[in-house]
Amino acid sequence: MAQEDIFKKLVAHSKEYGFVFQSSEIYDGLGAVYDYGQNGVELKNNIKKYWWDSMVLLHENVVGIDSAIFMHPTIWKASGHVDAFNDPLIDNKDSKKRYRADVLIEEQLAKYEEKIDKEISKAADRFGDAFNEKQFRETNPRVLANQEKIDILHERFTKALNDNDLIELKQIIIDEGIVCPISGSRNWTDVRQFNLMFSTEMGSTAEGASKIFLRPETAQGIFVNYLNVQKTGRMKIPFGIAQIGKAFRNEIVARQFIFRMREFEQMEMQFFVKPGSELDWFAKWKETRMKWHRALGFGDDNYRFHEHEKLAHYANAAVDIEYKFPFGFKEVEGIHSRTDFDLSQHQEYSGKKIQYFDPELNESYVPYVVETSIGVDRMFLQVLSASYCEEQLEKDSRVVLKIPPVLAPVKLAVMPLVKKDGLPEISRQIIDDLKFDFYCQYDEKDSIGKRYRRQDAIGTPFCVTVDHQTTQDNTVTIRYRDTMEQERVAISEIGKIIGKQVSLKDFLK
Ligand code: GAP
Repeated sequence: MAQEDIFKKLVAHSKEYGFVFQSSEIYDGLGAVYDYGQNGVELKNNIKKYWWDSMVLLHENVVGIDSAIFMHPTIWKASGHVDAFNDPLIDNKDSKKRYRADVLIEEQLAKYEEKIDKEISKAADRFGDAFNEKQFRETNPRVLANQEKIDILHERFTKALNDNDLIELKQIIIDEGIVCPISGSRNWTDVRQFNLMFSTEMGSTAEGASKIFLRPETAQGIFVNYLNVQKTGRMKIPFGIAQIGKAFRNEIVARQFIFRMREFEQMEMQFFVKPGSELDWFAKWKETRMKWHRALGFGDDNYRFHEHEKLAHYANAAVDIEYKFPFGFKEVEGIHSRTDFDLSQHQEYSGKKIQYFDPELNESYVPYVVETSIGVDRMFLQVLSASYCEEQLEKDSRVVLKIPPVLAPVKLAVMPLVKKDGLPEISRQIIDDLKFDFYCQYDEKDSIGKRYRRQDAIGTPFCVTVDHQTTQDNTVTIRYRDTMEQERVAISEIGKIIGKQVSLKDFLK
Protein backbone atom coordinates (compact mmCIF):
# COMPACT_ATOMS: atom_id res chain seq x y z
CA MET A 1 0.00 0.00 0.00
CA ALA A 2 1.29 3.49 -0.84
CA GLN A 3 2.75 5.35 2.13
CA GLU A 4 0.29 8.20 1.52
CA ASP A 5 -2.65 5.81 1.93
CA ILE A 6 -1.16 4.41 5.12
CA PHE A 7 -0.85 7.92 6.47
CA LYS A 8 -4.50 8.68 5.65
CA LYS A 9 -5.52 5.52 7.45
CA LEU A 10 -3.38 6.44 10.43
CA VAL A 11 -5.09 9.83 10.69
CA ALA A 12 -8.54 8.20 10.52
CA HIS A 13 -7.48 5.57 13.06
CA SER A 14 -6.26 8.24 15.48
CA LYS A 15 -9.69 9.78 15.48
CA GLU A 16 -11.69 6.57 15.57
CA TYR A 17 -9.80 5.27 18.59
CA GLY A 18 -9.68 8.43 20.71
CA PHE A 19 -6.10 9.54 20.10
CA VAL A 20 -6.41 12.85 18.24
CA PHE A 21 -9.42 15.01 17.34
CA GLN A 22 -9.62 18.12 15.20
CA SER A 23 -10.01 21.11 17.53
CA SER A 24 -13.51 22.68 17.58
CA GLU A 25 -14.74 19.94 15.27
CA ILE A 26 -18.45 20.62 15.80
CA TYR A 27 -17.79 24.15 14.50
CA ASP A 28 -16.02 22.76 11.43
CA GLY A 29 -12.62 22.80 13.07
CA LEU A 30 -9.77 25.24 13.54
CA GLY A 31 -6.85 24.87 11.13
CA ALA A 32 -3.73 23.13 12.41
CA VAL A 33 -5.04 22.91 15.98
CA TYR A 34 -5.78 19.52 17.52
CA ASP A 35 -7.11 17.99 20.74
CA TYR A 36 -5.90 14.77 22.30
CA GLY A 37 -8.51 12.18 23.26
CA GLN A 38 -8.67 9.63 26.05
CA ASN A 39 -5.96 7.38 24.61
CA GLY A 40 -3.95 10.20 23.06
CA VAL A 41 -3.47 11.98 26.36
CA GLU A 42 -2.14 8.80 28.00
CA LEU A 43 0.35 8.23 25.18
CA LYS A 44 1.36 11.89 25.29
CA ASN A 45 1.89 11.79 29.06
CA ASN A 46 3.98 8.62 28.74
CA ILE A 47 6.17 10.24 26.07
CA LYS A 48 6.64 13.28 28.29
CA LYS A 49 7.58 11.08 31.25
CA TYR A 50 10.06 9.12 29.12
CA TRP A 51 11.72 12.40 28.16
CA TRP A 52 11.56 14.02 31.60
CA ASP A 53 12.94 11.03 33.45
CA SER A 54 15.73 10.53 30.88
CA MET A 55 16.77 14.16 31.09
CA VAL A 56 16.08 15.24 34.67
CA LEU A 57 15.99 12.07 36.76
CA LEU A 58 19.01 10.47 35.15
CA HIS A 59 21.21 13.55 34.95
CA GLU A 60 22.32 14.84 38.30
CA ASN A 61 23.18 18.20 36.71
CA VAL A 62 19.85 18.76 34.91
CA VAL A 63 16.88 20.30 36.74
CA GLY A 64 13.41 21.25 35.54
CA ILE A 65 11.26 24.36 35.53
CA ASP A 66 7.80 25.36 34.37
CA SER A 67 7.78 28.97 33.20
CA ALA A 68 4.77 31.06 32.13
CA ILE A 69 3.64 31.30 28.52
CA PHE A 70 3.20 35.07 28.80
CA MET A 71 6.48 36.92 29.14
CA HIS A 72 7.71 40.49 29.00
CA PRO A 73 7.52 41.63 25.34
CA THR A 74 11.14 42.85 25.37
CA ILE A 75 12.24 39.22 25.73
CA TRP A 76 11.19 38.58 22.13
CA LYS A 77 12.97 41.68 20.92
CA ALA A 78 16.14 40.57 22.73
CA SER A 79 15.91 37.00 21.46
CA GLY A 80 15.63 38.19 17.86
CA HIS A 81 12.17 36.70 17.31
CA VAL A 82 10.47 40.05 16.62
CA ASP A 83 12.89 40.81 13.80
CA ALA A 84 13.96 37.42 12.52
CA PHE A 85 11.43 34.69 13.32
CA ASN A 86 10.11 34.63 9.78
CA ASP A 87 9.19 32.16 7.08
CA PRO A 88 9.73 32.97 3.39
CA LEU A 89 6.30 32.65 1.78
CA ILE A 90 5.18 32.49 -1.82
CA ASP A 91 1.64 32.41 -3.28
CA ASN A 92 0.41 30.70 -6.39
CA LYS A 93 -1.70 33.29 -8.25
CA ASP A 94 -4.01 30.69 -9.82
CA SER A 95 -4.85 28.48 -6.83
CA LYS A 96 -4.43 31.37 -4.33
CA LYS A 97 -2.60 28.84 -2.12
CA ARG A 98 0.33 29.92 0.01
CA TYR A 99 3.53 27.91 0.42
CA ARG A 100 6.84 28.15 2.22
CA ALA A 101 9.40 28.80 -0.50
CA ASP A 102 12.09 26.83 1.38
CA VAL A 103 9.78 23.83 1.77
CA LEU A 104 8.96 23.81 -1.97
CA ILE A 105 12.68 23.64 -2.72
CA GLU A 106 13.34 21.00 -0.05
CA GLU A 107 10.59 18.88 -1.59
CA GLN A 108 12.27 19.25 -4.97
CA LEU A 109 15.53 17.99 -3.45
CA ALA A 110 13.64 15.07 -1.92
CA LYS A 111 12.21 14.21 -5.36
CA TYR A 112 15.72 13.84 -6.80
CA GLU A 113 16.69 11.70 -3.81
CA GLU A 114 13.62 9.50 -4.36
CA LYS A 115 14.68 8.97 -7.97
CA ILE A 116 18.09 7.78 -6.78
CA ASP A 117 16.51 5.49 -4.16
CA LYS A 118 14.28 3.94 -6.83
CA GLU A 119 17.26 3.21 -9.11
CA ILE A 120 19.08 1.64 -6.18
CA SER A 121 16.19 -0.55 -5.08
CA LYS A 122 15.59 -1.72 -8.68
CA ALA A 123 19.27 -2.62 -9.05
CA ALA A 124 19.34 -4.30 -5.63
CA ASP A 125 16.43 -6.54 -6.71
CA ARG A 126 18.12 -7.32 -10.00
CA PHE A 127 21.58 -8.16 -8.66
CA GLY A 128 20.58 -9.70 -5.32
CA ASP A 129 23.49 -10.51 -2.98
CA ALA A 130 26.07 -9.40 -5.55
CA PHE A 131 24.78 -5.80 -5.42
CA ASN A 132 27.35 -3.21 -4.39
CA GLU A 133 25.49 -0.01 -3.57
CA LYS A 134 28.58 2.17 -3.20
CA GLN A 135 29.88 1.17 -6.62
CA PHE A 136 26.43 1.59 -8.18
CA ARG A 137 26.13 5.11 -6.76
CA GLU A 138 29.53 6.02 -8.18
CA THR A 139 28.98 4.65 -11.67
CA ASN A 140 25.31 4.55 -12.68
CA PRO A 141 24.68 7.45 -15.11
CA ARG A 142 21.10 8.13 -13.93
CA VAL A 143 22.15 8.19 -10.28
CA LEU A 144 25.09 10.45 -11.09
CA ALA A 145 22.88 12.85 -13.08
CA ASN A 146 20.40 13.15 -10.22
CA GLN A 147 23.19 13.52 -7.66
CA GLU A 148 24.63 16.38 -9.69
CA LYS A 149 21.24 18.10 -9.76
CA ILE A 150 21.02 17.71 -5.96
CA ASP A 151 24.50 19.13 -5.41
CA ILE A 152 23.94 22.17 -7.63
CA LEU A 153 20.50 22.90 -6.20
CA HIS A 154 21.68 22.36 -2.64
CA GLU A 155 24.52 24.84 -3.00
CA ARG A 156 22.34 27.47 -4.62
CA PHE A 157 19.57 27.00 -2.03
CA THR A 158 21.93 27.19 0.96
CA LYS A 159 23.49 30.38 -0.36
CA ALA A 160 20.09 32.00 -0.96
CA LEU A 161 18.98 31.12 2.59
CA ASN A 162 22.16 32.35 4.21
CA ASP A 163 22.08 35.60 2.19
CA ASN A 164 18.37 35.99 2.95
CA ASP A 165 18.00 36.45 -0.81
CA LEU A 166 14.26 36.24 -1.48
CA ILE A 167 14.60 37.08 -5.18
CA GLU A 168 16.98 34.16 -5.66
CA LEU A 169 14.60 31.80 -3.78
CA LYS A 170 11.86 32.68 -6.27
CA GLN A 171 14.28 32.27 -9.17
CA ILE A 172 15.20 28.76 -7.96
CA ILE A 173 11.51 27.82 -7.87
CA ILE A 174 11.09 29.09 -11.44
CA ASP A 175 14.31 27.50 -12.75
CA GLU A 176 13.43 24.14 -11.20
CA GLY A 177 9.99 24.29 -12.82
CA ILE A 178 8.27 23.75 -9.46
CA VAL A 179 4.49 23.81 -9.92
CA CYS A 180 1.68 24.43 -7.45
CA PRO A 181 0.32 21.01 -6.42
CA ILE A 182 -3.26 22.39 -6.60
CA SER A 183 -3.34 24.42 -9.83
CA GLY A 184 -0.36 22.79 -11.53
CA SER A 185 0.79 26.25 -12.64
CA ARG A 186 4.07 28.16 -12.27
CA ASN A 187 2.34 31.49 -11.78
CA TRP A 188 4.10 32.58 -8.56
CA THR A 189 4.14 35.85 -6.59
CA ASP A 190 7.37 37.24 -5.16
CA VAL A 191 8.71 35.65 -1.97
CA ARG A 192 8.25 37.69 1.21
CA GLN A 193 8.93 37.25 4.90
CA PHE A 194 6.13 36.56 7.40
CA ASN A 195 6.58 36.69 11.19
CA LEU A 196 5.30 33.57 12.94
CA MET A 197 4.51 34.94 16.40
CA PHE A 198 0.95 35.30 17.67
CA SER A 199 0.27 38.42 19.69
CA THR A 200 -2.42 39.48 22.11
CA GLU A 201 -3.05 42.34 24.53
CA MET A 202 -2.41 42.27 28.23
CA GLY A 203 -4.36 44.64 30.47
CA SER A 204 -7.48 46.58 29.47
CA THR A 205 -8.10 46.94 25.77
CA ALA A 206 -8.26 50.74 26.11
CA GLU A 207 -5.13 52.83 26.51
CA GLY A 208 -2.46 51.25 28.63
CA ALA A 209 -2.80 47.72 27.29
CA SER A 210 0.44 46.27 26.06
CA LYS A 211 1.04 43.95 23.17
CA ILE A 212 2.50 40.63 24.26
CA PHE A 213 3.36 37.46 22.39
CA LEU A 214 2.44 33.84 22.84
CA ARG A 215 5.84 32.17 23.16
CA PRO A 216 7.04 30.51 19.94
CA GLU A 217 9.54 28.38 21.91
CA THR A 218 9.81 27.42 25.58
CA ALA A 219 13.57 28.08 25.59
CA GLN A 220 13.33 31.79 26.42
CA GLY A 221 11.54 30.96 29.70
CA ILE A 222 14.66 28.96 30.60
CA PHE A 223 17.12 31.70 29.61
CA VAL A 224 15.38 34.40 31.64
CA ASN A 225 15.37 32.07 34.67
CA TYR A 226 19.03 31.11 34.30
CA LEU A 227 20.16 33.27 37.24
CA ASN A 228 17.25 32.18 39.48
CA VAL A 229 17.95 28.50 39.00
CA GLN A 230 21.74 28.75 39.07
CA LYS A 231 21.68 30.70 42.33
CA THR A 232 18.85 28.94 44.20
CA GLY A 233 19.99 25.50 43.07
CA ARG A 234 23.69 26.34 43.61
CA MET A 235 24.25 24.85 40.16
CA LYS A 236 27.77 24.47 38.84
CA ILE A 237 28.58 24.66 35.16
CA PRO A 238 28.05 22.47 33.18
CA PHE A 239 24.37 22.12 34.07
CA GLY A 240 21.04 21.99 32.29
CA ILE A 241 17.50 23.31 32.73
CA ALA A 242 14.66 21.31 31.19
CA GLN A 243 11.10 22.33 30.49
CA ILE A 244 7.99 20.90 28.85
CA GLY A 245 5.34 23.33 27.69
CA LYS A 246 3.14 24.81 25.01
CA ALA A 247 4.47 26.93 22.18
CA PHE A 248 2.58 28.80 19.46
CA ARG A 249 3.46 29.63 15.86
CA ASN A 250 1.25 31.11 13.20
CA GLU A 251 2.29 28.47 10.69
CA ILE A 252 0.97 29.45 7.29
CA VAL A 253 1.61 26.15 5.67
CA ALA A 254 0.20 23.75 8.19
CA ARG A 255 -0.06 20.26 6.76
CA GLN A 256 0.48 16.65 7.64
CA PHE A 257 -1.84 16.39 10.61
CA ILE A 258 -0.06 17.04 13.93
CA PHE A 259 3.35 17.39 12.27
CA ARG A 260 3.02 21.16 11.93
CA MET A 261 0.58 22.77 14.32
CA ARG A 262 -0.19 26.31 15.42
CA GLU A 263 -0.40 25.29 19.08
CA PHE A 264 2.01 22.53 20.06
CA GLU A 265 4.16 21.32 22.90
CA GLN A 266 7.93 21.28 23.23
CA MET A 267 10.37 19.43 25.48
CA GLU A 268 13.47 21.58 25.63
CA MET A 269 16.69 21.50 27.59
CA GLN A 270 19.29 24.25 27.69
CA PHE A 271 22.69 23.03 28.80
CA PHE A 272 24.98 25.80 30.09
CA VAL A 273 28.68 25.24 29.46
CA LYS A 274 32.06 26.92 29.58
CA PRO A 275 32.78 28.97 26.42
CA GLY A 276 34.93 26.93 24.07
CA SER A 277 33.56 23.58 25.29
CA GLU A 278 30.22 23.95 23.50
CA LEU A 279 31.06 21.90 20.41
CA ASP A 280 32.16 18.92 22.54
CA TRP A 281 28.89 19.11 24.47
CA PHE A 282 27.01 19.51 21.21
CA ALA A 283 28.54 16.23 19.99
CA LYS A 284 27.69 14.50 23.29
CA TRP A 285 24.07 15.60 23.33
CA LYS A 286 23.68 14.71 19.66
CA GLU A 287 24.63 11.10 20.42
CA THR A 288 22.65 10.94 23.69
CA ARG A 289 19.50 12.15 22.00
CA MET A 290 19.84 9.77 19.05
CA LYS A 291 20.21 6.87 21.52
CA TRP A 292 17.03 7.99 23.28
CA HIS A 293 15.10 7.75 20.01
CA ARG A 294 16.61 4.46 18.89
CA ALA A 295 15.97 2.82 22.27
CA LEU A 296 12.30 2.59 21.31
CA GLY A 297 13.18 -0.09 18.77
CA PHE A 298 11.60 1.43 15.66
CA GLY A 299 14.63 0.51 13.53
CA ASP A 300 17.95 2.36 13.51
CA ASP A 301 17.75 2.93 9.74
CA ASN A 302 14.60 4.98 10.20
CA TYR A 303 16.59 7.78 11.84
CA ARG A 304 19.22 10.07 10.45
CA PHE A 305 20.99 13.31 11.27
CA HIS A 306 20.39 16.30 9.04
CA GLU A 307 22.87 19.16 9.19
CA HIS A 308 21.18 22.56 8.84
CA GLU A 309 21.49 24.37 5.50
CA LYS A 310 21.18 27.68 7.25
CA LEU A 311 22.11 28.28 10.88
CA ALA A 312 19.56 30.15 12.97
CA HIS A 313 20.60 33.64 14.05
CA TYR A 314 21.75 32.30 17.43
CA ALA A 315 23.62 29.10 16.47
CA ASN A 316 27.20 28.06 15.63
CA ALA A 317 26.23 24.42 15.00
CA ALA A 318 22.88 22.73 14.48
CA VAL A 319 21.61 19.31 13.54
CA ASP A 320 18.18 17.70 13.32
CA ILE A 321 17.25 14.17 14.18
CA GLU A 322 14.93 13.05 11.40
CA TYR A 323 12.57 10.10 11.41
CA LYS A 324 11.26 8.35 8.31
CA PHE A 325 7.55 9.25 8.46
CA PRO A 326 5.17 7.84 5.81
CA PHE A 327 5.68 11.20 4.03
CA GLY A 328 9.49 10.96 4.13
CA PHE A 329 12.38 11.79 6.47
CA LYS A 330 11.38 14.80 8.60
CA GLU A 331 12.66 16.60 11.66
CA VAL A 332 11.58 15.40 15.09
CA GLU A 333 14.21 17.07 17.21
CA GLY A 334 16.76 19.84 16.85
CA ILE A 335 20.09 20.06 18.68
CA HIS A 336 21.62 23.52 18.56
CA SER A 337 24.77 25.10 19.84
CA ARG A 338 23.28 28.51 20.66
CA THR A 339 26.54 30.17 21.76
CA ASP A 340 26.11 32.93 24.39
CA PHE A 341 23.68 34.74 22.08
CA ASP A 342 20.53 34.54 24.21
CA LEU A 343 22.07 35.22 27.63
CA SER A 344 24.14 38.10 26.22
CA GLN A 345 21.10 39.62 24.57
CA HIS A 346 19.07 39.37 27.79
CA GLN A 347 21.98 40.87 29.69
CA GLU A 348 22.02 43.80 27.31
CA TYR A 349 18.25 44.36 27.08
CA SER A 350 17.51 43.86 30.80
CA GLY A 351 20.59 45.67 32.09
CA LYS A 352 21.14 42.79 34.58
CA LYS A 353 24.46 40.99 34.76
CA ILE A 354 23.86 37.41 33.61
CA GLN A 355 27.12 35.63 34.23
CA TYR A 356 28.67 32.69 36.00
CA PHE A 357 31.60 32.96 38.36
CA ASP A 358 33.78 29.97 37.59
CA PRO A 359 35.72 29.07 40.76
CA GLU A 360 38.17 26.93 38.80
CA LEU A 361 39.12 29.75 36.43
CA ASN A 362 38.54 32.44 39.02
CA GLU A 363 36.66 34.52 36.44
CA SER A 364 33.14 35.35 35.32
CA TYR A 365 31.70 34.68 31.89
CA VAL A 366 28.41 34.45 30.02
CA PRO A 367 27.86 30.69 29.63
CA TYR A 368 27.46 29.09 26.22
CA VAL A 369 24.41 26.96 25.60
CA VAL A 370 23.70 23.65 23.90
CA GLU A 371 19.99 23.07 23.39
CA THR A 372 18.02 19.90 22.72
CA SER A 373 14.50 20.64 21.49
CA ILE A 374 11.87 18.08 20.58
CA GLY A 375 8.18 18.50 19.79
CA VAL A 376 5.90 16.29 21.88
CA ASP A 377 3.35 16.14 19.07
CA ARG A 378 5.95 15.17 16.47
CA MET A 379 7.25 12.49 18.78
CA PHE A 380 3.64 11.31 19.22
CA LEU A 381 3.24 11.14 15.44
CA GLN A 382 6.52 9.27 15.17
CA VAL A 383 5.36 6.67 17.71
CA LEU A 384 2.00 6.26 15.96
CA SER A 385 3.56 6.02 12.48
CA ALA A 386 6.10 3.46 13.62
CA SER A 387 3.53 1.40 15.52
CA TYR A 388 0.67 1.26 13.01
CA CYS A 389 0.42 -2.20 11.39
CA GLU A 390 -2.20 -3.87 9.25
CA GLU A 391 -1.81 -7.63 9.53
CA GLN A 392 -3.38 -10.33 7.44
CA LEU A 393 -4.24 -13.31 9.65
CA GLU A 394 -5.37 -16.78 8.68
CA LYS A 395 -9.09 -16.01 8.78
CA ASP A 396 -9.28 -12.24 9.03
CA SER A 397 -7.09 -9.18 9.43
CA ARG A 398 -6.29 -6.81 12.26
CA VAL A 399 -5.02 -3.29 12.78
CA VAL A 400 -2.59 -3.24 15.66
CA LEU A 401 -0.60 -0.42 17.20
CA LYS A 402 2.70 -1.98 18.25
CA ILE A 403 3.46 0.85 20.65
CA PRO A 404 6.39 0.00 22.95
CA PRO A 405 4.70 -1.29 26.13
CA VAL A 406 6.40 1.39 28.19
CA LEU A 407 4.55 4.09 26.19
CA ALA A 408 1.26 2.25 25.55
CA PRO A 409 -1.80 4.21 26.78
CA VAL A 410 -3.52 1.19 28.36
CA LYS A 411 -1.21 -1.48 29.73
CA LEU A 412 -3.69 -4.19 30.56
CA ALA A 413 -7.26 -5.14 29.59
CA VAL A 414 -9.09 -7.61 31.80
CA MET A 415 -11.98 -9.54 30.23
CA PRO A 416 -14.40 -12.02 31.77
CA LEU A 417 -15.14 -14.73 29.19
CA VAL A 418 -18.86 -14.43 30.06
CA LYS A 419 -20.81 -11.88 32.05
CA LYS A 420 -21.87 -14.35 34.76
CA ASP A 421 -20.72 -17.14 37.09
CA GLY A 422 -18.61 -14.75 39.15
CA LEU A 423 -16.17 -14.04 36.28
CA PRO A 424 -16.85 -10.25 36.17
CA GLU A 425 -16.24 -10.04 39.93
CA ILE A 426 -12.87 -11.80 39.66
CA SER A 427 -11.94 -9.52 36.73
CA ARG A 428 -12.80 -6.42 38.74
CA GLN A 429 -10.76 -7.72 41.66
CA ILE A 430 -7.72 -8.16 39.39
CA ILE A 431 -8.08 -4.56 38.20
CA ASP A 432 -8.53 -3.27 41.74
CA ASP A 433 -5.26 -4.93 42.71
CA LEU A 434 -3.28 -3.66 39.71
CA LYS A 435 -4.75 -0.23 38.97
CA PHE A 436 -2.32 1.58 41.25
CA ASP A 437 0.58 0.39 39.10
CA PHE A 438 -0.85 0.23 35.57
CA TYR A 439 -3.59 1.84 33.56
CA CYS A 440 -6.09 -1.07 33.24
CA GLN A 441 -9.34 -1.39 31.31
CA TYR A 442 -12.29 -3.67 32.00
CA ASP A 443 -14.13 -5.00 28.93
CA GLU A 444 -17.02 -7.45 28.91
CA LYS A 445 -18.87 -6.46 25.73
CA ASP A 446 -18.92 -8.56 22.51
CA SER A 447 -17.03 -11.76 21.68
CA ILE A 448 -13.55 -12.23 23.09
CA GLY A 449 -12.13 -11.92 19.53
CA LYS A 450 -13.73 -8.51 19.03
CA ARG A 451 -12.44 -7.39 22.41
CA TYR A 452 -8.90 -8.42 21.46
CA ARG A 453 -9.20 -6.43 18.21
CA ARG A 454 -10.35 -3.33 20.10
CA GLN A 455 -7.34 -3.55 22.41
CA ASP A 456 -4.96 -4.23 19.48
CA ALA A 457 -6.26 -1.07 17.84
CA ILE A 458 -5.24 1.09 20.80
CA GLY A 459 -1.98 -0.76 21.40
CA THR A 460 -2.74 -2.54 24.70
CA PRO A 461 0.18 -4.94 25.15
CA PHE A 462 -1.56 -7.42 27.49
CA CYS A 463 -5.07 -8.86 27.65
CA VAL A 464 -6.07 -11.11 30.52
CA THR A 465 -9.08 -13.40 30.15
CA VAL A 466 -10.88 -14.75 33.16
CA ASP A 467 -12.70 -18.05 32.44
CA HIS A 468 -14.33 -20.87 34.35
CA GLN A 469 -11.00 -22.51 35.11
CA THR A 470 -10.08 -19.34 36.98
CA THR A 471 -12.76 -20.08 39.57
CA GLN A 472 -11.11 -23.47 40.19
CA ASP A 473 -7.39 -22.69 40.23
CA ASN A 474 -6.92 -18.90 40.23
CA THR A 475 -5.22 -18.92 36.83
CA VAL A 476 -6.03 -16.79 33.78
CA THR A 477 -4.86 -16.60 30.18
CA ILE A 478 -2.62 -13.73 29.28
CA ARG A 479 -2.51 -12.79 25.60
CA TYR A 480 0.42 -10.90 24.12
CA ARG A 481 -0.47 -8.21 21.58
CA ASP A 482 2.37 -8.59 19.08
CA THR A 483 2.58 -12.39 18.87
CA MET A 484 -1.07 -13.03 19.84
CA GLU A 485 0.27 -15.97 21.83
CA GLN A 486 -1.52 -16.92 25.00
CA GLU A 487 -0.33 -18.59 28.16
CA ARG A 488 -1.93 -19.67 31.38
CA VAL A 489 -0.58 -17.95 34.45
CA ALA A 490 -1.51 -17.55 38.11
CA ILE A 491 -3.37 -14.34 38.94
CA SER A 492 -0.65 -13.56 41.44
CA GLU A 493 1.92 -13.53 38.58
CA ILE A 494 0.17 -10.96 36.33
CA GLY A 495 1.63 -7.90 38.03
CA LYS A 496 5.17 -9.25 37.79
CA ILE A 497 4.86 -10.27 34.10
CA ILE A 498 3.45 -6.91 33.05
CA GLY A 499 5.61 -4.88 35.39
CA LYS A 500 8.81 -6.13 33.76
CA GLN A 501 7.66 -5.02 30.29
CA VAL A 502 6.09 -1.66 31.04
CA SER A 503 8.42 -0.35 33.71
CA LEU A 504 10.06 2.90 32.64
CA LYS A 505 12.71 2.27 35.27
CA ASP A 506 13.76 -1.05 33.71
CA PHE A 507 13.55 0.47 30.23
CA LEU A 508 15.82 3.37 31.13
CA LYS A 509 18.28 1.08 32.88
N1 GAP B 1 14.09 26.34 20.80
C1 GAP B 1 14.48 25.90 19.51
C2 GAP B 1 13.35 25.61 18.65
O1 GAP B 1 12.22 25.92 18.95
P1 GAP B 1 12.70 24.49 16.38
O2 GAP B 1 13.52 23.63 15.47
O3 GAP B 1 11.99 25.66 15.81
O4 GAP B 1 13.71 24.95 17.52
C3 GAP B 1 12.06 22.48 17.89
O5 GAP B 1 11.64 23.57 17.11
C4 GAP B 1 11.11 21.32 17.73
O6 GAP B 1 9.77 21.73 18.01
C5 GAP B 1 11.06 20.73 16.32
O7 GAP B 1 12.08 19.80 16.11
C6 GAP B 1 9.69 20.09 16.29
O8 GAP B 1 9.73 18.80 16.86
C7 GAP B 1 8.87 21.00 17.19
N2 GAP B 1 8.06 21.95 16.39
C8 GAP B 1 8.46 23.11 15.86
N3 GAP B 1 7.46 23.71 15.21
C9 GAP B 1 6.39 22.90 15.32
C10 GAP B 1 5.04 22.96 14.86
N4 GAP B 1 4.58 24.00 14.17
N5 GAP B 1 4.21 21.92 15.16
C11 GAP B 1 4.65 20.87 15.87
N6 GAP B 1 5.91 20.77 16.34
C12 GAP B 1 6.77 21.76 16.07
